[in-house]
Amino acid sequence: MDYAKYIKSVMDFPTTGINFRDITSLLEEGAVYRSAIDDLAAFAKSKHADVIVGPEARGFVIGGPLAYSLGLGFVPVRKPGKLPREVATVSYEKEYGIDTLCIHKDSIKPGQRVLVTDDLLATGGTIEATIQLVEQLGGVIAGVAFLIELTELNGSRLLKDYDVLSLIHY
Ligand code: PRP
Ligand code: HPA
Repeated sequence: MDYAKYIKSVMDFPTTGINFRDITSLLEEGAVYRSAIDDLAAFAKSKHADVIVGPEARGFVIGGPLAYSLGLGFVPVRKPGKLPREVATVSYEKEYGIDTLCIHKDSIKPGQRVLVTDDLLATGGTIEATIQLVEQLGGVIAGVAFLIELTELNGSRLLKDYDVLSLIHY
C-alpha cells in the first residue's frame, strides 16, 4: 500500500523550517492503520520476535496493536517517574539538552528476541536509547520497525547492526 499518501505534511511545526510528517492522518483511516500494523507484524514474525518494545508516546500507538496482533507482550519505555517498579535508565543527547528513558528491569528476560518499534526515525536518539535499554537487560534485538524514516537525518547510521523496516521514507 502507498502509505505516504495518508501522511499529512505540516510546514513550520513545531518550529520554523520543520516540515512535520504527521501520522495522525494515517491513524484516522482504520483500514490503512490496520494494513500498516499487519505489514510490521509480518516483519516481526519473520524475525521470530518474542516481545515488542516501544517508547512513549507514539511508539505505544504502533507497538500496542503490533503486540496484540502477534499475541505477544508489549513493554513500554517511558520518561522518568512513570514506571512504578525498579527501572533501568539511559540518558541521551537531544538537540537541546539531555533526555532520559526508562524500562522495567524485569520486563525482558535475557536472550528474549525483542522487536523495537516507534512511529518515526529522525536523528535516531530515541530508538538508540531504547535499544540500549533492551540490551542492558540481556534482550536480543530481533529487528527495528518504523512507520516513517526521515532519511536525510541519517538516524539509520545508528542501526547498521540491526534489521530495520520502515514503511515510508522521506
Ligand atoms: C518523536 C517520535 C520518535 C522520536 C524520533 O517523539 O515519536 O519517538 O521523536 O526522533 P529521534 O529519532 O530524533 O529521536 P517525541 O520525542 O516527539 O515524543 P512523543 O512520541 O511523546 O510525541
Ligand atoms: N514528524 C513527526 N515527528 C517528528 C518529526 C516529524 O517530521 N521530526 C522529528 N520528530
